[in-house]
Amino acid sequence: MKAVHHVKRIIWVATLLSFAWSCGQTAKQNGDGKTDKSPISDASAAPSDVPAKTVAAKPDPVKTAAPADPAASTPTAPPFNVAALVGKLTWNADFYNNQKGQAYTGFDGQNVFIIPIDVEVYEILPAGTTLTDDQYDVLYESPEYLAAAKAEVAKISLTTDTAFLTSKMGGDYEVGRVYELTSVKAGTTTVTAKYGATTLPPITVTITPYTAAQVAAGKQRFTTAVTGATPSPACAACHTPPNGVDNSPYFEANYPDAGILSFVATGVNSDDGYKSATPHVMTFTTPDQKAGIVAYLRSIN
Ligand code: HEC
Repeated sequence: MKAVHHVKRIIWVATLLSFAWSCGQTAKQNGDGKTDKSPISDASAAPSDVPAKTVAAKPDPVKTAAPADPAASTPTAPPFNVAALVGKLTWNADFYNNQKGQAYTGFDGQNVFIIPIDVEVYEILPAGTTLTDDQYDVLYESPEYLAAAKAEVAKISLTTDTAFLTSKMGGDYEVGRVYELTSVKAGTTTVTAKYGATTLPPITVTITPYTAAQVAAGKQRFTTAVTGATPSPACAACHTPPNGVDNSPYFEANYPDAGILSFVATGVNSDDGYKSATPHVMTFTTPDQKAGIVAYLRSIN
């Protein structure tokens, strides 16, 4: 496994709200020599009056993070010709998020529902070339690599059926491009991304029909603690930027409603078994709140 490399920053700009979701992303090489990233939210400490025992960094929702490589702390990179190597790289592209070919959002005719689709480029080393972790560091920080990656990113494009989803470029980062897709009506549709002449595997987007009343009930739960026999804090006590855990459209866009609801109510995502680092065994004051919580989460931009 290769070492952690440069920090990326994606600015996710929503249409109506002057909201900016910034995500410090850390690039990493996996064993295939492919750039891998872990979206780590700027999750600093939760408010102290909240029963949060720990605030964990948000895990990669799709890929399993590589364990830290002890060799990564080696202080110096053996010299090599970066410019010559960059000239010999070949490139490919892939979805950073949405690796399952499925994405989920909603529509209620009133609120705005946006999901990110992130296409990244990655380099392939010439056959027979291997780099140490420190050489990767040097490569990734070199102007030659960054310029080459930027030229590859410019080859990315994305197409939606605008009857279901409108698409807007959300911004480029060093090795990729994020599109923001806004739902126009409920249903199932396909999103196609191209990288140069290559068409990436399509993503099927499920746009669940919600009502504005469901979103409102979910919002009420999000902002209000449950009292009584099964008390449970307001989601907003922990999930309020800038110091709380940001709700991640990267996470939610990857899971069907049942997966997210089980994560919130039991601490385990029924879709992939992912366990919350924080015990999420949240209760609800009314059935409407429970039915609406995911609708509300999907509407947070
Ligand atoms: C005690 C603090 C706390 C409370 C209260 C809380 N959360 Fe979380 N939540 C976290 C933390 C920390 C994470 C990230 C780490 C983890 O648990 O996996 C997280 C992660 C999540 C995620 C997955 C990742 C993401 O950012 O989207 C969802 C969905 C979520 N919370 C929903 C909720 C909802 C809905 C409620 C209220 C019903 C709630 N949480 C209440 C602390 C909290």
